[in-house]
Amino acid sequence: MNGPRILLIVGGGIAAYKACELVRIIRREGGSVTCVLTEGGTKFVTPMTLAALSENPVHTTLWDLKNEAEMGHIQLSRQADLVVVCPATADLLAKMAAGMADDLATTLLLATDKPVLAVPAMNVRMWLHAATQRNVQTLRDSGVEVMEPDEGAMACGEYGPGRLPDPSEIWHAIARCLGHGPEGVVTDDLGGLSAAMIPRGLRAVPAAADPASPLVTKGEARGAPSTDPNALELVPLGDDPLPLFGKHVLITAGPTHEPIDPVRYIANRSSGKQGFAIAAAAAQAGARVTLIAGPVHLPTPPGVERIDVESALEMAAAVDGALPADVAVMVAAVADWRVARSADQKLKKQGDDTVPPLELTENPDILAGLAHGLRRPPLVVGFAAETQDVIRYAQAKRIRKGADWIVANDVSGDVMGGDANTVHIVTADDVISLPEMPKGDVARVLVERIADALAE
Ligand code: CTP
Repeated sequence: MNGPRILLIVGGGIAAYKACELVRIIRREGGSVTCVLTEGGTKFVTPMTLAALSENPVHTTLWDLKNEAEMGHIQLSRQADLVVVCPATADLLAKMAAGMADDLATTLLLATDKPVLAVPAMNVRMWLHAATQRNVQTLRDSGVEVMEPDEGAMACGEYGPGRLPDPSEIWHAIARCLGHGPEGVVTDDLGGLSAAMIPRGLRAVPAAADPASPLVTKGEARGAPSTDPNALELVPLGDDPLPLFGKHVLITAGPTHEPIDPVRYIANRSSGKQGFAIAAAAAQAGARVTLIAGPVHLPTPPGVERIDVESALEMAAAVDGALPADVAVMVAAVADWRVARSADQKLKKQGDDTVPPLELTENPDILAGLAHGLRRPPLVVGFAAETQDVIRYAQAKRIRKGADWIVANDVSGDVMGGDANTVHIVTADDVISLPEMPKGDVARVLVERIADALAE
């Protein structure tokens, strides 16, 4: 990663949710972000959301001894190229101006030797108060870049300056702090355009290059090179929000193990890879994700809350405990049967020809129970692993189980445990057949369709 490293301190204000969008923009533009949440910040945005978006651990407390041993606050404050405080509340600005260090955020700000950009957001009266204006002046005098807040209607019903600037504008301020010119374009690259000539809401990028980063400089553009090296074009600043932000996505994944005795169990070949990939894609799309995982050895995707279970009964209880949800995606290969009475002690050979009788009983159908239950999520997606007549069986299964969609895959090849999948998304009035693709891509396509369905 050669992009800028941003240490983002998120203060406790209603505008904290916009910090999520800022993290996304910084990542999209090639930067990396490490987030620190103040105690107040945690009331407005969860560490899990920021961890999912930044794909980095989120720091909240000074007294985390494990972190202090592994990465002291001094180091954290100096690993970055720029420290951004967003939103900077009146309280945080006052503490910064006074040089206080009574929590992780303020300690980092006092310990850093890197440039600091503060993005204020607060009620108009608080912003205009003499104390806040004095604090802002003190900070500016000591070299902190303090952005001017936007003017407009506020969450509290008043009108005036105090709103957090648009995250795209904040990104451009970051680019400027990092030594890139006005409007984020290297100054001598403006090709006759002055920054003042660029309309609000637009930005100048090298023509025919990837209209991406304000940090793109000549020769670095990822797209096709322009024939005119100085050509610039104006493109929208871009404002695509996280498609699953604010949604709770519940996912089951992996096999279940049904105990025979304390050392033996009935299992199946599910690897859990597809379910874990969907959990990762949903978290990246901004969702709060609960992943109920059967016994698999897979790392937990960043920003995902994982609940490990063994048996179908445990999985059913965990699903129930995780409700309500906006979407349920049941990918687990739940065992249809369990041993009716599993033994408390290890079964022993009898020394004659008799074998222990294993009486089986049916497990609850978690998907059907959820889809027909009182707390049914608005969108219920099941999976169907079939070896023949894939679509016909899936259509019947969708109706029988009460799911909105069934994602059907042909498991006659080496899909189970493999990294690729060929799936058909079977809905009430459609069958969408996708070509063979990596499980991560299947996950992204599915998450996009889920976001579209929820938006409708
Ligand atoms: N499923 C579940 N609970 C079960 C069995 C299955 O939640 N006890 C869910 C799986 O997570 C998956 C779908 O149902 O989403 C797969 O069903 P499948 O096992 O293929 O269906 P069966 O009911 O077993 O039908 P059949 O054996 O006839 O294929």
